[in-house]
Amino acid sequence: MSGRLEGKTAIVLGGSRGIGEGVVAVLVREGAHVVNCDLNQELGEAVAKRHAGACEFYRGDVARRADMQALAAHVLKQRGRIDILCQVAGIYPNHLIEDLPEEEWDRVLAVNLKGPFLAIQACFPSMKKNKSGRIVLTGSITGPHVTWPEHAHYSASKAGLVGLARATALEGAPFGITCNVVEPGNVETANLRRERGPDHMAAMARAVPLGRLALPEEIGEAMAFLASDAASYITGTTLVLDGGQILPEARL
Ligand SMILES: NC(=O)c1ccc[n+]([C@@H]2O[C@H](COP(=O)([O-])OP(=O)(O)OC[C@H]3O[C@@H](n4cnc5c(N)ncnc54)[C@H](O)[C@@H]3O)[C@@H](O)[C@H]2O)c1
Repeated sequence: MSGRLEGKTAIVLGGSRGIGEGVVAVLVREGAHVVNCDLNQELGEAVAKRHAGACEFYRGDVARRADMQALAAHVLKQRGRIDILCQVAGIYPNHLIEDLPEEEWDRVLAVNLKGPFLAIQACFPSMKKNKSGRIVLTGSITGPHVTWPEHAHYSASKAGLVGLARATALEGAPFGITCNVVEPGNVETANLRRERGPDHMAAMARAVPLGRLALPEEIGEAMAFLASDAASYITGTTLVLDGGQILPEARL
């Protein structure tokens, strides 16, 4: 399908690589103009070049309020409106609770949870004025549904995101703004492969009933759907995209 987002202006947070890169590709294919806000300028500019005319790069840190305010102001100046906000940017370092440095806890919560809040806060005024808006956040099965050792901060951030989405959905509803969360299982990204290693990737693929990891574009398809008119009555909910990974009651 294509053209579902024709004429829409979308902000993607974290679209320079990995899942976010796939999200940008799907939104552009569907007709949206995408502003990709990311810390990684080199990769972000390459993504913008690949989608020349339909995607631009904006350097910013989602964890900084000033950056999110400036991003929204920039998009409104250039495009006049913000129709869609897709948050993908996130980090996933590992540490057991006893070894977890306080600074790492703070950074994970700042990027993964405060970042989406700051972005929503920056986009809300114009979305409210327009009486429409689509907000799609990237959670995870890790936190709200399952978890691992060494993922306390990450799990807390992704579980917290669900609460943020529900509150956003309720506050946004009178203004025609929806907010939902996509919750991927394991997605084939270069960073996940680097962080976890090839053995983990192979083990995860075996653990998934569909027999493989997700592709970034498959997460993008779900985000594009939730950002489209077809999802006009869906708000405050979560969509698990895990190939059936969390279905088995037990592994015998
Ligand atoms: N890869 C997976 O298996 C998986 C599974 C479930 C959820 N997720 C979630 O999906 C998202 C993307 O994961 P990924 O594997 O594609 O990661 P990635 O590291 O490949 O990409 C993340 C992107 O976000 C950007 N980013 C990071 N911190 C930022 C900040 N403070 N401000 C702006 N940009 C920032 C990075 O520069 C990068 O371009 C994360 O929120 C992650 O928690 C990933």
